Amino acid sequence: MLSIPDLIKKKRDGGALSDEEIKAFIQRVTDKTIQDCQTGAMLMAIWQKGMTDKEIVTLTKEMMSSGEVMSWPKEWAGLVVDKHSTGGVGDKVSLVLAPALAACGYKVPMISGRGLAHTGGTLDKLESIPGFNIQQSTDQIKNILDSVGCCIVGQTETLVPADRVLYGMRDVTSTVNSLPLIAGSIISKKGAESLSALVLDVKFGRAALYKDLDSARELAQLLVKVGNSLGMRTGAALSSMDGTIGRCVGNSLEVIECLETLKGKGPDDLMELVTTLGGLLLKMTGSVSDLSEGKKKISDAVIGGAALSKFQAMMEKQGVDSEAARALCSTDTDYYSILRKSKHQIKLETPADGEVVDVDGMMLAEVLHKLGAGRSKSGESVNHSVGAKLLVSLGQKVQKGASWLELHYEDPAPTADQISRLQSALTLGTHTQQNTPTHTVVKELLLPQ
Ligand code: URA
Repeated sequence: MLSIPDLIKKKRDGGALSDEEIKAFIQRVTDKTIQDCQTGAMLMAIWQKGMTDKEIVTLTKEMMSSGEVMSWPKEWAGLVVDKHSTGGVGDKVSLVLAPALAACGYKVPMISGRGLAHTGGTLDKLESIPGFNIQQSTDQIKNILDSVGCCIVGQTETLVPADRVLYGMRDVTSTVNSLPLIAGSIISKKGAESLSALVLDVKFGRAALYKDLDSARELAQLLVKVGNSLGMRTGAALSSMDGTIGRCVGNSLEVIECLETLKGKGPDDLMELVTTLGGLLLKMTGSVSDLSEGKKKISDAVIGGAALSKFQAMMEKQGVDSEAARALCSTDTDYYSILRKSKHQIKLETPADGEVVDVDGMMLAEVLHKLGAGRSKSGESVNHSVGAKLLVSLGQKVQKGASWLELHYEDPAPTADQISRLQSALTLGTHTQQNTPTHTVVKELLLPQ
């Protein structure tokens, strides 16, 4: 049997691990015959010395096969697709994109995560709908895909157990931000969904994990390469993440914004992301010949209401009372007859006349997080009703005293410092060529070769 200390030493000294060595490491992580300190040491060696592309592909494949690899009916060949986002503020794309793809005839077994740090999580958003059950077995997932076409669920117990161990240990060994480990973690889980195509939304900017375009591109290129090596058509969009996506941040508020979007009244930036990511998937699976045709199909599915019907059906299949699901999807609904509204709302006012030149999404997210919209460690509960709605747009001229942010909060009330931090998220000024806000969110696309 290969000696784990020898493998750690080889990586520590900058060597490349063979396929057999990586397989042995992942096997021992999965069957728990390796000591935690050895796993930690190997993670740190990988963090420090990196891995070759060949090693990363092997690591990802071995992680993927550490548990169940889903299988789908033959008739779904070429139709099973998913997307992954590196996380943002107000990132509610999945809630619109999954039903839009289902409305276009695709099967979307979307396995999502919870929010951590300042970013929100798709599962937390969905759980603000009473009854929505994100825990579904593989058989239940197949069932929902068969009848509806999409589901949004948490990771099942049987999927990529090696990642469960490694992810937990990365957090406590300061090895989270390692490109090989990030690629292995993200792509192994998508590979275990046996996808035909995967689209990645890799974000950069103030409110993203990666602050600049170059580092986000480096991650995107690696993810695209590894995804394609595993046999999934994989492409990526590099999108900016400085403000918020749409106007709402916070779980219930974001669900309402998605429902409004599915009723054809969505904000432009959210629609741009949904149609671009969906259009890329349609192009990669060959159902359209160019991206603009794919974007139009996705847009038609949203604007025409077909995606809304899929969202309603998905809610019902995932445990929401059918009367409540119908009410949420009807026109002129009172959302708060179903969703919880926060005990208090206040409106913040603009401090002067001017033009809105910037809204700092990171600043908003950090304060909302402290008010209960997010969690500081995994396992904590979140307050679904806490959030904020932007009442102004970039470039808009405002007068002193105009309402610019509607804050939804529970007890205790925000402190004076938190209110002043929220206020500082708004910058008023005069546009110059340098600061003229751009409404285009998607900056670059990476397609499989
Ligand atoms: N998401 C994952 O699942 N893993 C990572 O390493 C980063 C984001």
